[in-house]
Amino acid sequence: MPHQSALLNVMIGAARKAARTLKRDFGEVENLQVSLKGPANFVTAADRRAEETLRAELAKARPGYGFLGEEGGRHEGSDATHTWIVDPLDGTTNFLHGIPQFAISVGLERSGTIVAGLVYNPITDELYTAERGKGAFLNDRRLRVAARRQLNDSVIACGLPHHGRGDLPLGLQELGAVQDKVAGLRRFGAAALDLAFVAAGRIDGYWERNLSPWDMAAGILLVREAGGFVTDIEGGDAMFDKRHIVAGNEPIHRELQRLLKDAGKA
Ligand code: IPD
Ligand code: CA
Ligand code: CA
Repeated sequence: MPHQSALLNVMIGAARKAARTLKRDFGEVENLQVSLKGPANFVTAADRRAEETLRAELAKARPGYGFLGEEGGRHEGSDATHTWIVDPLDGTTNFLHGIPQFAISVGLERSGTIVAGLVYNPITDELYTAERGKGAFLNDRRLRVAARRQLNDSVIACGLPHHGRGDLPLGLQELGAVQDKVAGLRRFGAAALDLAFVAAGRIDGYWERNLSPWDMAAGILLVREAGGFVTDIEGGDAMFDKRHIVAGNEPIHRELQRLLKDAGKA
């Protein structure tokens, strides 16, 4: 595989190792569904364990790099230019409910730019990888965003404000602005995979608010390397600071971004 650099090998090795236990833990969740407390504590432990494995494996191969993980927070490295941005389990609610739509997400930031990204679903064994300037791949297959040019032909994914999180009135305004203009709306529940699906051309566009860098880092690079466009909802490049994102091929991204921006002003 032409794209399998030493760097990607490190990332893939770490993700596969963390995935082995995550997959076993996912199998256990079904048995736990019947217990009184439910599997929530178990899932938190699985999540932490996956992050520890990723951190240890990545540090073994690149000892000086910094690390920003959802569970353990930020750890500065001796190399101030490189930081891993890691979500060990994106799609926790799906995992908790036995829905096989979750992933490990690993991005590498170099001086403020994402230069490598990996999103891996251990259940489907779908491994999405990208390096800056070298294209995006699903396993061995080179990815290209979808070619649809009309929103009314497009399937769009989104995030929804849920219990205790997000601005419901704004979320409803955005839904109202998009819902009847598209061929289908989806809410899959794992942001990293939503972005990977845009890169793979499975869906035509995606937007979400209230995200964190670890939800988006790898996926942003996947979409861009597959020829797609990613911005914040205002059209800028401040996805991490503003915590919102819109992605798609060029015309779909442009149209979706405009609809969402206008919905926010309404
Ligand atoms: C969540 C998922 C979900 C998104 C949430 C994220 P988590 O990540 O990506 O799709 O809607 O905003 O927090 O908590 O499962 O890692
Ligand atoms: Ca996440
Ligand atoms: Ca997570």
